[in-house]
Amino acid sequence: MISRYDFGHPYDTGAVVQQLPVSGDPVPHFTVRQHGAQVIFTAPLGDDDMIFGLGQAVRGLNKRGHRYRAWNSDDFSHTEDKASLYGSHNLLLFSGETGVFGAFFDDPGAVAFDLGYTRGDEAVITSENGDLTVYIIEGESLTDLVRQFRQLIGKPYLPPRWGLGYIQSRWGYATADDLREVVAGHREKHIPLDTVSMDIDYMADFRDFTWDTAKFPDLPGLTAEFAADHIRVMPIMDAGVKVQPGDATYDEGIDKGYFCRKADGEVFVGAVWPGKAVFPDFLREEVRQWFAACYRPLLEAGVEAIWNDMNEPAIFYSVEGLQAAYDKADSMRGTNIGVYDYFALKDAFTGMSNSMADYRRFYHVIDGQPVNHEKVHNLYGAMMTKATAQGMRAVRPGKRPLLFSRASFIGAHRDGGIWQGDNNAWWSHILLNLRELASLNMVGFLFNGADIGGFGCNTTEDLVLRWLQLGAFTPIMRNHAAMGTRDQEIYRFAKWEQMRDVLTVRYALIPYLYSELVKAAETDGMMFRPLAFDYPQDEMACRTEDQLMLGDGCMIAPVYEQNARGRHVYLPEDMLLVRFRSAEDFDCVPMTAGHHWIELALHEFPLFIRRGHILPLAKAAEYVAGIDASALTLLGWVDTNAALTLYEDDGESEVIDLSAGLTEIRVTVADGNATAKAAGKALDATRIILN
Ligand code: GLC
Repeated sequence: MISRYDFGHPYDTGAVVQQLPVSGDPVPHFTVRQHGAQVIFTAPLGDDDMIFGLGQAVRGLNKRGHRYRAWNSDDFSHTEDKASLYGSHNLLLFSGETGVFGAFFDDPGAVAFDLGYTRGDEAVITSENGDLTVYIIEGESLTDLVRQFRQLIGKPYLPPRWGLGYIQSRWGYATADDLREVVAGHREKHIPLDTVSMDIDYMADFRDFTWDTAKFPDLPGLTAEFAADHIRVMPIMDAGVKVQPGDATYDEGIDKGYFCRKADGEVFVGAVWPGKAVFPDFLREEVRQWFAACYRPLLEAGVEAIWNDMNEPAIFYSVEGLQAAYDKADSMRGTNIGVYDYFALKDAFTGMSNSMADYRRFYHVIDGQPVNHEKVHNLYGAMMTKATAQGMRAVRPGKRPLLFSRASFIGAHRDGGIWQGDNNAWWSHILLNLRELASLNMVGFLFNGADIGGFGCNTTEDLVLRWLQLGAFTPIMRNHAAMGTRDQEIYRFAKWEQMRDVLTVRYALIPYLYSELVKAAETDGMMFRPLAFDYPQDEMACRTEDQLMLGDGCMIAPVYEQNARGRHVYLPEDMLLVRFRSAEDFDCVPMTAGHHWIELALHEFPLFIRRGHILPLAKAAEYVAGIDASALTLLGWVDTNAALTLYEDDGESEVIDLSAGLTEIRVTVADGNATAKAAGKALDATRIILN
């Protein structure tokens, strides 16, 4: 059951799809007080209470013990002290002494979450502006809370099936030939690949909706050439439009008054990659329609995928901010500055980026009225993505676009996926990747993944290999790195064969992963779950932070420490360990519930299948369309009949009919033998272990 409570003058953020009546009762579970404009919600915490949620955020699955802030931020280090990342997903799920309940703070402005940080025995949530709707969810279990919440916010975006293929990306591929080299690097060594991305270097002077015709003289020809090789291209799009009279997007946006303005009516100018840029007011429907239409030339040139970036929005500096820093420097020039002056001078420059002063400087128009950006900041990226989805659907009606964004808000999960942003080539970021995977499932962003190998810092061969071993399961599987860092395409490493072998497992799993993704989306479920969701009575499982349940029948537990040759795994029940080296080379070891040390050489990685469940492996290929999903090998440890339903469809139609696409795979055990059938046809069941 979900109840709704309004405070101040809530904005329609578009997060929810169900219109619930406003309750006149006091908010359950919380005491509520007003402090100036702020509305503050306080809930007591028992010693062992757990708090899940918040989607994209640093630290544990259990968010208790620190503080977070809903404020979409361009952050490039994701260290433990960071309160904000790129998305705001204001859902908390409480589980413990006081029962199980959820709270969603539908507020497009800043919200502070003090989850047992200031005082260990209370959670304090502060809405800075006080204009919000709070939804309280009562349920039987964490899984039940998520199911109800997801019904409230509507079904998630689903990618085309080829969107689950491997994506190779790098900031620095500048020309058509650079991309050809990347494609050839994979194809020559038979490394699976479906998509290559084009970072900002493809644009002419970093201008949105352009491509540099010297570097890409024939984009339609290039996309056709790649299509023949089953490769798609995925260009980036930035939120800020370069200030350049003569540029079509800039001129039209200025003429029509589509860019955000300051209080004095002047268009707000902030610098991003193109230098000075202006920011479309994506919160207006007519602006979204205009921006959506701007994608058409790229899409007509054969582009089928887009990633949206810098849409928090990131602002390196504004004209005003830069001037203030210069003024500070001028005021100190020639004086003998003390150490505090020195820090102030330094801060004047480093503090220019993504500053609150700038976010307060400009306005949107909502219902004909100017609204300061600060009040609705967290909606900006979501509304850009809404426009992009609209633009892509208009060009290919009825087909699912491949789309993901950096900034997000709940509601945007219906339009696209998100990637986890600018992580680093750090081992700890494999673990962060894992945890965000589950937390993002709670809030509807099922299609997510992190930059494999790490975006910032120089990577290492073993890190790429271990990270791919987690990436093999994540819906977005993209290797991406920052300009200036060490190359990290698979084919460049000495151990490329072992990396390729990980991809064979990925591709063999795609029919299963796709099926689990669609089923989770359509049934308000989670493809990835903390163990606490499946084994709430098992204290050890509830505290497990480095393993996740995958689908109905599996559990993942990646190695995330350098030089480790194995890891500790907790099994809440009997499971079959599948120790993969490739899609064809793996061993299956039945393991009883409890604690285990699992030996895993650098090229080995585990997948656990719950006893009584089965997992289908298809025949892998070098691109998704080539996968043979009729040639299945079933893995499992069963003592009696077992079954699995696999969802299949054409992989691209917008309309999903879950019941029409389900095939039953059935394992029958009789006289000490297992036989398997899928849709009535006999299958090879050689890897079924009977007991
Ligand atoms: C941002 C993006 C990153 C991209 C870079 C250049 O940092 O998060 O993925 O490579 O900008 O466009």
